[in-house]
Amino acid sequence: MKSVQWHDTHITILNQQALPHKTEYLELKRIEDVWDAIVTLKVRGAPAIGMTAAYGLALAAQSYETDDLATFHTELKRDRDYLASSRPTAVNLFWALDRLIKSVANATSVNEAKTTLIHEAICMQIEDEDVCRRIGEHALSLFQDGDRIMTICNAGAIATARYGTALAPFHLAKEKGMSLHAYACETRPVLQGARLTAWELSQAGVDVTLITDNMAAQTMKAKHISAVIVGADRIAANGDTANKIGTFGLAILAKAFNIPFYVAAPLSTIDLQTKTGDDIPIEERAKEEVTHIGGVCIAPDVNVYNPAFDVTPHELITGIITEKGIIFGDYETKLPTLFEEVLA
Ligand code: MRU
Repeated sequence: MKSVQWHDTHITILNQQALPHKTEYLELKRIEDVWDAIVTLKVRGAPAIGMTAAYGLALAAQSYETDDLATFHTELKRDRDYLASSRPTAVNLFWALDRLIKSVANATSVNEAKTTLIHEAICMQIEDEDVCRRIGEHALSLFQDGDRIMTICNAGAIATARYGTALAPFHLAKEKGMSLHAYACETRPVLQGARLTAWELSQAGVDVTLITDNMAAQTMKAKHISAVIVGADRIAANGDTANKIGTFGLAILAKAFNIPFYVAAPLSTIDLQTKTGDDIPIEERAKEEVTHIGGVCIAPDVNVYNPAFDVTPHELITGIITEKGIIFGDYETKLPTLFEEVLA
């Protein structure tokens, strides 16, 4: 099941707002459709947002009428900025758009640039599958048969090209005949844990138990949770990590119970330009996400604070798992070394 797919005249996305009740694919034909799908969380999860935006930019560029390269670059930059305005926290969005812009910097004709953009976006999706598999292999080395592992939000196959990041070890364990039991926090207010993770893992035949977010402490104690693993939207240079709201609380609980707390993410989620978590922009979303559940109002008309993400300080993170391996502590020194080969 692919979260996003390129077709020559449009993009299709799995509508994650309709899950788990309906498995529905939407056709995105205009750049405005792509922007809207990202803003309204029809496609979500840092890598999937990046891939969709990349396809959206490639799609938009196909309709530019100019033959003049300078005009082409101006229009491309305008559309890059438009798509970049959809969501502020996941750095994969900006990483993907800028990678596309860079790919055509030396194009010698508009036609060549248009083809290159499509090619680059497709490559990104192919690479992401491989990256997620590697993350899963590394993560799996931390776990043992029978482990009960807690997660939040959905950092799974539908948030990436395949496998996911934090959910990759569960999918790989299943492939290898090993048993890992996932405890999925429902993830209020948008319920990515209940609607998406519980659905994705049960579809894949992985043992999954759903809990509400406020059951995490009791579950860690009563069910002997052996580790927590989460995805990331942006990892700052010092290791501070933005992820779905509620992640920070799980990290504090994990420390209280002396349970390891792991972050699983691709290099494209690491933002060395952002020094600490205080510099990561945190998206605030509409109050209706909190006051309503499934379209039903559950609260009086009061003020609402609805941050979509929080930042877990690096000192609460036992290890960061990337496609290049696992780093434990001293993130400020170790994170840049992950890019050495990439930059060489
Ligand atoms: O608001 P969302 O659903 O896009 O938030 C997603 C998360 O927080 C994920 O954990 C993160 O993007 C990693 S997805 C592999």
